[in-house]
Amino acid sequence: MRIDVITCLPELLESPFNHSILKRAQTKGLVEVAVHNLREYSTNKHRAVDDYAFGGGAGMVLQIEPIARCIEFLKSERSYDEVIYMTPDGQTLQQGMANELSLKKNLIILCGHYKGVDERVREHFITREISIGDYVLSGGELAAAVLADSLIRLLPGVLNDETSALSDSFQDDLLAPPVYTRPADYNGMKVPDVLLSGHAGKIEEWRHEKAVERTEARRPDIMKKHKGE
Ligand code: ADE
Repeated sequence: MRIDVITCLPELLESPFNHSILKRAQTKGLVEVAVHNLREYSTNKHRAVDDYAFGGGAGMVLQIEPIARCIEFLKSERSYDEVIYMTPDGQTLQQGMANELSLKKNLIILCGHYKGVDERVREHFITREISIGDYVLSGGELAAAVLADSLIRLLPGVLNDETSALSDSFQDDLLAPPVYTRPADYNGMKVPDVLLSGHAGKIEEWRHEKAVERTEARRPDIMKKHKGE
């Protein structure tokens, strides 16, 4: 997989892509991430990428010109499955969407900023608009990092334990069950006996039971989906 991120604040993306699992995935050659500074595609002498909104109103709007130049340059290099715009009014990111997008080969992610982006970008260049939740961030960079992380961790070979992405919360429409590690007894706070029993079948059964309990208590909406209601 290859992900090209377009942003006017590339510094904001340095840390998320350069540590831990996302870094290892790139080092192993399982994903290629390229961050593009929108300002480098500006023809303005001050490298400006935004301007006032026509019709007035507070806030600057990202201009179509540098974005179009950047997307067209990328498209001249390879073809893309999706050109994604991160925006609070997009479709809310869910595990199913992450699963689907993790199967794609080449993705562009455009980060919005300020008041947003000229509507013509959305109409003519964007194939998908994604939100990471019903709240407004200062820009799309953190949202792009969240989306990229949710995809990259699903790529084969990225996680050490191949089964661990499958046992994530939401993968089977259930939240994940509780987990414990050593010590088995911390000042009288004990790990459930079944987990120490070595009985794989019983452990699996216990985990499923706890996942159902937890989902019913915390996310009845997801429980309904799990039961197919
Ligand atoms: N940009 C600003 N807020 C956002 C959100 N909630 N999701 C995606 N992109 C955003």
